[in-house]
Amino acid sequence: MSQSYDRGTIEDFGRWRDFSAGMWAWVFHKFTGWVLIGYLFTHIAVLSTATAADPTVYTNTISGLEDLLIVRLLEVGLLAVAVFHILNGIRLLFVDLGMGLTAQDKTFYLSLVLTGAIVVASVPTFVGGKL
Ligand code: HEM
Repeated sequence: MSQSYDRGTIEDFGRWRDFSAGMWAWVFHKFTGWVLIGYLFTHIAVLSTATAADPTVYTNTISGLEDLLIVRLLEVGLLAVAVFHILNGIRLLFVDLGMGLTAQDKTFYLSLVLTGAIVVASVPTFVGGKL
């Protein structure tokens, strides 16, 4: 079954209020995919400090970053983004193979719940003991 929308002459940005689960899955997957690409640049910038002649530069960079609460909180966010993208991505690959087509909303919610559980379980590792 296909659907079409009458978008009018100007895009109505209020349409997100009517989004179905599948539309949110699409939005979250795009968002998380592009956040991961953005993170790659930061990641390479930080890791490149390992090429400095003085080996303490890398150690000091990493420990300086890890001392900042905001960095450790951002790491929890990065884990959330990565875990959702991976779980939802695996779900999409099954959908591409024609598997689970009638349970797409349920499997999307399952991706969200599993992501939430894994992220909550990670908090002591990332933030714990240093607050
Ligand atoms: C196990 C790991 C991963 C899985 C299973 C996965 C799966 C997928 C799938 C199935 C799609 C296509 C979704 C569609 O049909 O529209 C996709 C899109 C995408 N993925 Fe991943 N992915 C993974 C890791 C990553 C990583 C590490 C990055 C970034 C470094 C990434 C960035 C993206 C981007 C940018 C898109 C396109 C988003 C868009 O504009 O639609 N993915 N991923």
